[in-house]
Amino acid sequence: MNKALIKLIIAAVSFVLLSLTVVQVYWVKNAISVEHTNFEDKVNEAIPNVIYKLEKARAQRNLAEIINSQSRMANFINSMDSINNILYNELVRIEEPEDIEQLIRNSFMASEVLKKLVGNKKPFGTEKLLDKKLLDSLLVAELRNKGIQAKFVYGVYSTARNKMLIDNSGKYGAKLLKDSFVFTLYPNETNRNPDYLMIYFPWEIRYLMKQMASIIFISIILIIIILMIFIYVIRVIVWQRRLSEMKNDFINNMTHEIKTPISTISLACEALFDKEIKKNHLLSENYLNVINDENKRLDGIAERILRAATLDSGDFILNMTKVDVHQIIDHVINTIGIHVEVKDGKIIKDYRAKNATVKADRIHLTSVISNLIDNANKYSPKKPEIKIITENVAGGVLITIRDKGIGINKENQKKIFDKLYRVPTGNIHNVKGFGLGLSYVKAIMERHGGKVRVESEFKNGSRFSVYLPFSDD
Ligand SMILES: Nc1ncnc2c1ncn2[C@@H]1O[C@H](COP(=O)(O)OP(=O)(O)O)[C@@H](O)[C@H]1O
Ligand SMILES: [Mg+2]
Repeated sequence: MNKALIKLIIAAVSFVLLSLTVVQVYWVKNAISVEHTNFEDKVNEAIPNVIYKLEKARAQRNLAEIINSQSRMANFINSMDSINNILYNELVRIEEPEDIEQLIRNSFMASEVLKKLVGNKKPFGTEKLLDKKLLDSLLVAELRNKGIQAKFVYGVYSTARNKMLIDNSGKYGAKLLKDSFVFTLYPNETNRNPDYLMIYFPWEIRYLMKQMASIIFISIILIIIILMIFIYVIRVIVWQRRLSEMKNDFINNMTHEIKTPISTISLACEALFDKEIKKNHLLSENYLNVINDENKRLDGIAERILRAATLDSGDFILNMTKVDVHQIIDHVINTIGIHVEVKDGKIIKDYRAKNATVKADRIHLTSVISNLIDNANKYSPKKPEIKIITENVAGGVLITIRDKGIGINKENQKKIFDKLYRVPTGNIHNVKGFGLGLSYVKAIMERHGGKVRVESEFKNGSRFSVYLPFSDD
């Protein structure tokens, strides 16, 4: 699968996922708006019931008042009658004119007293008639009746007096004036300025969301699951691609590395068949040496690849003995130092460790050091300058191999210990290798209870440190 195709798939799936999310959001919004209408309908059914019941209660009270005042009026007339009777009798008996005056004054006072008793009733105001407790309980009951449990605030506004008669909105005062449901109280009365009942649900959205919670939750979970699967699949594809690239590189490199000694050997063999050369002992010995060297090189390659295979299966046995780290480093420098000298480079030793004896597998440890020095040399294009430092740190020996070569960026530092991984250099592979060295170093160090670490800066050289613990005995 090539890069462009992967990008295309990522783009396509991202697009589909995004669209899916948009569609989901659209549906949820739609559902919320349906719920909202539903909610409004319920409120619009419930509140007229409240108003009807209020009106009924008021009518009852009005009637009671009327009956009450009528009976008072009857009393008044009765009283008036008896007063008139008394006055009449008095009038009949009057002899002095002052008495008439007195009588008139008395009768006037009596009528005033009676008037007070009956009382001159003012017309009924909403304020007086609206029983807040009744309104409250009616609202709760009717809304609940329609299945609405949401918290609400309300107020009654009088246009006649231009003020709120009842207001329990608290901090939602502004909202109550702006966003509330509004109903006319006493819709049957046309002759007066209307009063309005306003009701506002502060948590309406939260209430609607609660009704929708399961749908929203399931949508989100599904989208997250799809997203996670998608990310996982893309990661696997990218990883597989990298692996197949690395395998290709490996096979190319290997073919190349094997081909050179093979062709050299076949050339040497051809020469040896030549009768002239056969006669010349010095020359033929030279060719034999070439064959021998190239054969050793082939053996080395086979050895390296096989070692990687056995590392994988994990069943390699370490032959642990007491070894002197300094001695091993010296040995490695003796064998591969020549490659550094060829490039006009140098190896500087700085042995600071007082105690450099550890328990380790001599052959593997030699290979580890050799791999690291070989890398330091290989990845220093000009005059390699390699410094090898040993020191004693807590409970062991630390070997640091420093070079001033091409360096490794942060991103690649994490990957170089992976098997077959080589820092990509485009299509130019001027430095040969299989990408097996550092994974081998890591595996061996772990088996020794040690560690390997890299510090590096791109273009500014690298520093590989190997830590080997002292053995317990
Ligand atoms: N000293 C170094 N300086 C720069 N890059 C390095 C160094 N050592 C290792 N690398 C990078 O790490 C990769 C893996 O190293 P290694 O496993 O030894 O494989 P190989 O040397 O066969 O390529 C190398 O291909 C190289 O890109
Ligand atoms: Mg290497």
